Amino acid sequence: MQRFDGRVALVTGGAHGIGRATAARLASEGASVAIADLDTEAAQKTADELTSADQIMALPCDVTDRESVDAAMAAVVERFGGLDVLVNNVGINGGPQFEDMDEAEWYRQLDPTLYGAVRCIKAALPMLLAARDGASVVSIGSVNGIAAFGNEAYSAAKAGLVNLTENLALRYGRHGVRFNLVAPATIHTRHWHQQFRDDPELLEMLGDLYPLGRIGQPEDIAAAVAYLASDDAAWVTGTVLRVDGGILAGAPSFLAAMRGHAERRNGR
Ligand SMILES: NC(=O)c1ccc[n+]([C@@H]2O[C@H](COP(=O)([O-])OP(=O)(O)OC[C@H]3O[C@@H](n4cnc5c(N)ncnc54)[C@H](O)[C@@H]3O)[C@@H](O)[C@H]2O)c1
Repeated sequence: MQRFDGRVALVTGGAHGIGRATAARLASEGASVAIADLDTEAAQKTADELTSADQIMALPCDVTDRESVDAAMAAVVERFGGLDVLVNNVGINGGPQFEDMDEAEWYRQLDPTLYGAVRCIKAALPMLLAARDGASVVSIGSVNGIAAFGNEAYSAAKAGLVNLTENLALRYGRHGVRFNLVAPATIHTRHWHQQFRDDPELLEMLGDLYPLGRIGQPEDIAAAVAYLASDDAAWVTGTVLRVDGGILAGAPSFLAAMRGHAERRNGR
């Protein structure tokens, strides 16, 4: 018996990176998985590469478009008969500096990253509320939504997801739907892959910033999502699980400065 036997999951942005690793992890533990992605070709390729074809489906889906989201949810129900797990994974980062960001740019990042999750949750709710053994929503946030790492619009959207998760956990707890959020730090996905290829020193520099001595892999996040989505987390809702290599655990520059100061005072 596997943790997701008989369960159905939908992963938005499941064609690449963290979404892909999550889809693979849930499928490997017995779930039927819908990969809902804007990049239809990559979604199909991912679905073809993962486990058995009758267990995985690729769906065209744009989380910024209500009709597209509704159609994806309907297709999942038609194919798999319901929905037990929703993973809100789409997030859009980047863009100009704060001074140069106009309202359209703010919306470009907030729409998929925050409102996209809202759209998906609203569309999925009837199925989640009807799930026989309880249901779970896991959103992919970011350390950017917890502390200042730059990228104000993206970070504000991720911070919004934290509060949305907490509010919905309270609202739907008694109705059998849990809401949790995973907050990753730097994860080796295609965005970073490109940068590391052009600048190999960057990978080492970033790894050195982490108490665990490396940046994360998509599978690190997939494991956390699978935990929160599973019955192992049956009494966990409204929580933020930082999967961040320890980067939010403290301030190394503060410790180094204090140590340096103490050493200077002691004349060493
Ligand atoms: N990679 C990191 O370092 C990192 C760190 C913290 C948080 N995150 C978060 O993790 C999530 C996944 O990031 P990733 O690095 O794996 O990204 P990625 O770019 O590798 O994959 C994102 C996927 O989302 C799809 N997508 C984009 N817009 C969409 C839309 N409107 N509708 C449907 N699908 C859409 C893309 O086609 C792609 O398959 C994001 O929410 C991101 O903010 C990533």
